[in-house]
Amino acid sequence: MFAELKTQPADKILALMAMYREDTREGKIDLGVGVYKNAEGVTPIMGAVKKAEQLWWQEEATKAYTGLAGDPGFSDAMISLVLGDAVPREAVAAVATPGGTGAVRQAFELIQMAKPDARIFVSDPTWPNHLSILRHLGMETILYGYFDEETRAVDFDAMMTGLQEVKAGDVVLLHGCCHNPTGANLNLTQFEEVIALLNAKGATPMIDIAYQGFGDGLEADAVATRAVAAGCPETLIAASCSKNFGIYRERTGLLMAVGHDTERRALTQATLQHLNRQNYSFPPDHGARMVTLVLNDPDLRSDWEAELEAVRLSMLDLRQSLASELQRLTGSDRFGFIAQHRGMFSRLGLAPDLVEALREVHGIYMVGDSRINVAGLNAQTVPILAKAIVEVGG
Ligand code: LMR
Repeated sequence: MFAELKTQPADKILALMAMYREDTREGKIDLGVGVYKNAEGVTPIMGAVKKAEQLWWQEEATKAYTGLAGDPGFSDAMISLVLGDAVPREAVAAVATPGGTGAVRQAFELIQMAKPDARIFVSDPTWPNHLSILRHLGMETILYGYFDEETRAVDFDAMMTGLQEVKAGDVVLLHGCCHNPTGANLNLTQFEEVIALLNAKGATPMIDIAYQGFGDGLEADAVATRAVAAGCPETLIAASCSKNFGIYRERTGLLMAVGHDTERRALTQATLQHLNRQNYSFPPDHGARMVTLVLNDPDLRSDWEAELEAVRLSMLDLRQSLASELQRLTGSDRFGFIAQHRGMFSRLGLAPDLVEALREVHGIYMVGDSRINVAGLNAQTVPILAKAIVEVGG
């Protein structure tokens, strides 16, 4: 049987991780996978999470199964973090999932169950795994224009033109904040225009929000998601706790299905739980439990918010210094967009051969589309990267 298996396309982010690991050069720089690293190159466990783990170790009395939706306290805490009071609690069905990717996968499967012929519109570019999961599920996927390679900002006209193709029953995938891979984001006015268009077409938005707190702040980063959830009859939201709680390997996420017709909530909730049961039964609990403890305890929460804000500001600082250093070396503002982008990533707009030269000659690893993880830099490596970009002809 196994002989029948076909080689699957490699995931370019994970392939890059492997190449980096195998590189024996001193001074190699990893700007690949989206994992936060501090100035020492360490991905720390956040203080509030560590304290929550200590508390939980003392309190935890059983490891029996939770419910199929996970711990209801986790759903409540996350719904409030992501949606604030934008929609009533009874408008939201939710299940805990293994990470944000789990939520994305379950959302796609929910769409497939409800509307087998729905087409999924995704930004060009988007996180490669969106495309890969959609391909795996055999779902029709259509790219809409998003990024202007010249200005390295959002090409909103191209986006609106692309979305004109949307039909009733289709789904449009949006990034709630901190667009991955570009770092270029819609403003709220643009989101309002997208909401009006989707409502006029009868299409459903799906939001992937994996970096809340990494862009303009915890509240500011949720504003667009809240506007969509409040402004559209139905919205799917895949939220990740991997980055903003630094609990990548705990696999902690939440899928929310917001429906203003609350009569349908019970059916939606039951379907989401059914999907969990089919795919992995009960979702992981440990990370969700830490998130709930942190969000519900005022002291832990304020520690967490302060640490997350420090992470966000450190990435903004790195953006600013990289943009300034490139300005100094090139005498032009053409890399000024790095300071304007938000979140963990910026797409630099370098051709694939330059990305390869950066890797081969300088030991600097970024995704092939020239996406850098800004958090992979520090004060020492910013000038090294800037110099290398200029040297390879960027
Ligand atoms: C990324 O885009 O680098 C992260 O979301 C990690 C991943 O799983 O790809």
